Amino acid sequence: MVKAVVLGAAGGIGQPLSLLLKANPLITGLGLFDIVNTPGVAADLSHISTPAKVVGYLPPDDGLKKVLTNADVVVIPAGVPRKPGVRISYDLFKINAGIVRDLATGIATAAPKAFILVISNPVNSTVPIVAEVLKKHGVFDPKRLFGVTTLDVVRASTFVAEILGDLSLSKSVAVPVVGGHSGVTIVPLLSQSSHPLPANLTTDQYEALVKRIQFGGDEVVKAKDGAGSATLSMAYAGAEFAAKLIRAIGGEKGVSAPTFVNLSADPSGGEALKKELGQDLDYFSTVVELGPEGVAKINTLGSLTDAETALVKAAIPELATNIQTGVSFIASPK
Ligand code: NAI
Repeated sequence: MVKAVVLGAAGGIGQPLSLLLKANPLITGLGLFDIVNTPGVAADLSHISTPAKVVGYLPPDDGLKKVLTNADVVVIPAGVPRKPGVRISYDLFKINAGIVRDLATGIATAAPKAFILVISNPVNSTVPIVAEVLKKHGVFDPKRLFGVTTLDVVRASTFVAEILGDLSLSKSVAVPVVGGHSGVTIVPLLSQSSHPLPANLTTDQYEALVKRIQFGGDEVVKAKDGAGSATLSMAYAGAEFAAKLIRAIGGEKGVSAPTFVNLSADPSGGEALKKELGQDLDYFSTVVELGPEGVAKINTLGSLTDAETALVKAAIPELATNIQTGVSFIASPK
């Protein structure tokens, strides 16, 4: 019996994500919350012939508390997406940060043991925000908090399969994508791809591929021309990660995925990874082994090429700033 809850369920990501979760036979309860439209989305999904019983709530009458009651997995795609030509500004950050803070407060009180999957951007900062809120309430368990970076992994798999000239490979291509979840903090470890890149790939082609993975979101924002950012591919990625976590908490062995986590979730505090990075970061995205408690083990990066080492090095300063921005938003709000 797994109850999944989507906060921001009526949005561009929220609706298709809720659809994909409703299609997951391991989910027996699906709670939808948004500031608009959830009764309609819930009624629509409730007609689909899969096990999950669907309920939809709005903020009045303690809707957030009601939807979160008995939640096992909470996915948060609530927020405002960015516009063409604009990276996340501080104003947009503050809007999303405030939304995520308030939803995290609800989780801390109504579902403190839930596994929390954060999609709302900027993930590098919103995950620390959730952690700080949970800490304030004395319920922070780093093993249960995840920044969803799966879209970077999904893009890397697809783009590598394209280069290999066979899109049917994209489901089986596995590329660890590490670091964080915006621009240069996204570091694809292409040398560790399950399907090696063509030996004749030039440096220019390699660099273009890395850039495409790092800035794939821009392609979508530009093509949508003012109508939002990646929603359908993000919904797919979010549902993939949620499905993996649900299998792992249900006892399946050998489930792992790259995700942005607090390094204290690792049994050894992520010391080996911090040593590899040469930096005492509190959060990082890397391949995480999942188990019944959530994070079971945080893997190190393994052997990197010189180009990958340079990408990791370039990611660290921005990542450190993003993390601090999130922590400060709660610790010393302006
Ligand atoms: P959207 O604007 O279509 O949907 C957001 C939804 O959140 C709306 O339905 C809105 O009513 C709802 N919402 C706003 N305030 C809320 C609150 N206080 N409580 C509950 N719901 C609330 O936006 P979209 O495209 O679905 O994007 C959502 C977020 O996901 C954005 O922050 C975006 O940047 C992020 N995103 C993350 C990605 C990732 O890879 N992690 C990829 C793409 C987008």
